Formats: sequence, C-alpha cells, structure tokens
Amino acid sequence: MKDFTLSDIPDLTDKNILITGATKGLGYFTAKALAKKNANILLHSRNVESGEISKKQILKDYPESKIEIIPFNLASKKSIKEGADYIKSKYSNIHIIINNAGVMHPPYHETEDGYEIHFGVNYLSHFILNNLLLDIIKDVKGSKIVTVGSIAADIGEEQFNLDKIYKKESYHKGSYGISKFCNLLFSYELERHLRKINAQTISLASHPGVSITNIIRHSSKIRLLLIKILDKIFLPSPEKASLTTIKAATDKDAKANFYYAPSGFLQIKGSPKIVPSPPLARREDLAKSLWDLSKTL
Ligand SMILES: NC(=O)c1ccc[n+]([C@@H]2O[C@H](COP(=O)([O-])OP(=O)(O)OC[C@H]3O[C@@H](n4cnc5c(N)ncnc54)[C@H](OP(=O)(O)O)[C@@H]3O)[C@@H](O)[C@H]2O)c1
Repeated sequence: MKDFTLSDIPDLTDKNILITGATKGLGYFTAKALAKKNANILLHSRNVESGEISKKQILKDYPESKIEIIPFNLASKKSIKEGADYIKSKYSNIHIIINNAGVMHPPYHETEDGYEIHFGVNYLSHFILNNLLLDIIKDVKGSKIVTVGSIAADIGEEQFNLDKIYKKESYHKGSYGISKFCNLLFSYELERHLRKINAQTISLASHPGVSITNIIRHSSKIRLLLIKILDKIFLPSPEKASLTTIKAATDKDAKANFYYAPSGFLQIKGSPKIVPSPPLARREDLAKSLWDLSKTL
C-alpha cells in the first residue's frame, strides 16, 4: 500500500480542531499540517507567549492559516476549566480533539491539585478537558477524539495500581508508561461512554513511534546518548512521526477504537497503519475503574 503523506490529508475547511501541546514537537507539526489543509486550529499552549511563537512559525510557511491560541495549564484543574469555558464561549462545535500534550521523566513534581505529574498532565488533564468539551463535540457528525499513546504503554498489570497511581509513591521510571497506558484505557472507555450517550463522535488512538523532541530533555545522559546515536541512523523526524496522529484524525475510513502506529520495525517508524493495542488496555474492568477514580480527582 502507498505510504501516507501530508498530501493525503483531505481538505479541512470549516473544521475546528483542538490540539493540546501544539507549541512543540509532534503537536506543533500536527497543527501545522492541519492548518495547511485549511482547518481552524485551536492551538493549545501552556501560555500565550509560547503559543505566539508557534503560531508565527506556522504563519511564516502558510500565511493563510487560521490559528487561535488557547492558553491553559494542563497541570491545573482550574486552568483546564477556564480553557474549556473559553472554548465553549467562542466555538459552538469542535470536529476533532487531539489529546497530544505530554511530559516524560521530569524531576518529581505535582500538578497544582497535588497529582503526580505524568498521571496529571498526560492522562487526567485530558480526561477532564474532554468531558468538559463533550457538549460541543458529541453532536457533530463525523467528529473524533484522538488520544496519543506510546510504545511505552505496554505495561504489566502489576504496574497498574489505582490506589497509588496519582500519588508521589507512583513516581518512578515506569510512571510515563503507566500514564500512556491510562491514555489508552481512557480512549476505549471514552468510546463506550460516547455510545451510551448516542454521540456522533468516535474515540480512537495513535502512537508516533520514537522521535527526538523536547520530551526527551529530562532523560538520563546514557539514554540521551543512545537516542542520539539511534537518531543518526534510524529515527524519523518529528514531522514524519506526527503522521500517525494526523492520519487517525483525518482518515475518512477511521473507525472507533482504531489504534494507528508506524508500520516499520518495532513500530518505531514508518507509514501509519492500524495495529492492535496492548491487550491489557482493552480490559473494560480496568478502564472503568480508572474512569470512576478520575471522576473523583
Ligand atoms: N517523541 C516521541 O518519541 C514520543 C513517543 C511516544 C509518544 N509520544 C507522545 O507524543 C505526545 C507529544 O510529545 P512530543 O514528543 O511532541 O513532546 P514535546 O515536544 O515535549 O511536546 C509536548 C507538548 O506538551 C506541552 N505540555 C506539557 N506539559 C504541559 C502543561 N502542563 N500544560 C500545557 N502544555 C503542556 C508542551 O508545552 P511546553 O513546551 O510549554 O512544555 C509541548 O507543547 C506526548 O503525548 C508523548 O507522550 C512521543
């Protein structure tokens, strides 16, 4: 089959597309590619300044782009709520939400509400945001919520401990993978929820493989060296790596629960294809318990 490229993205005129963490890395290239196809980009950024820099960069290449910066901090429930309220005051509908923002292995810190940062930013923020925005997406025909997973989401059941998952004691080398696992559990539980409320929206997921972006900045020196060596010989650019999410968001044949990943060796790079997700991520009991816990946080 022919490789998916940016030219395969359909025209997106009049489509309102929210991308979290769109100032850098994969989110930035996703925003840029969709802006080129005439979408109205709701470019989420941590603050106005970083949003402005990214917007300017995109406008330099595509001056016709329609981009609004939507600044809020995913590490604060209050800020997420303000962001969602603003979006709802300005937009009566959203066609696509891309849950992209993420952090990996930063020094231990917590969200403003006291949750371990991987769990709080990578997963819980998107749970809160998506639920707050459901009203303006659920009745939009063909709408989609795409959640970005990771190869690291393939964890063991013993690592998934709901009593600890949001607390300091769950901060360790595996907490990034656990948060990405939560992203996948959430994507499938969201899909079940959408069916229950007769929504027009589908929930699906993607992972980009491996690509050097700002996300590696907290990695150990040894890991950085290894990644940089791999990068020289093998790894795709962030622009290429963003194609899996772009395809998930824009593929007319996409169905609920599809998981798009690179087709190459170990799913590290390659043209997007649909892959099975880690089997544990399809466990309804785990997904429901995570959803129920998240409602209380
Ligand atoms: N790169 C990879 O190889 C890889 C592999 C598998 C999965 N992924 C996933 O792909 C997604 C994007 O990662 P990336 O590689 O593009 O990383 P990145 O370059 O570090 O971009 C992450 C984005 O998230 C934003 N963000 C982080 N914390 C935030 C907060 N509290 N509030 C608002 N925005 C926040 C960042 O904003 P600031 O710049 O302001 O922090 C940035 O825009 C993540 O979900 C990641 O888990 C990446």
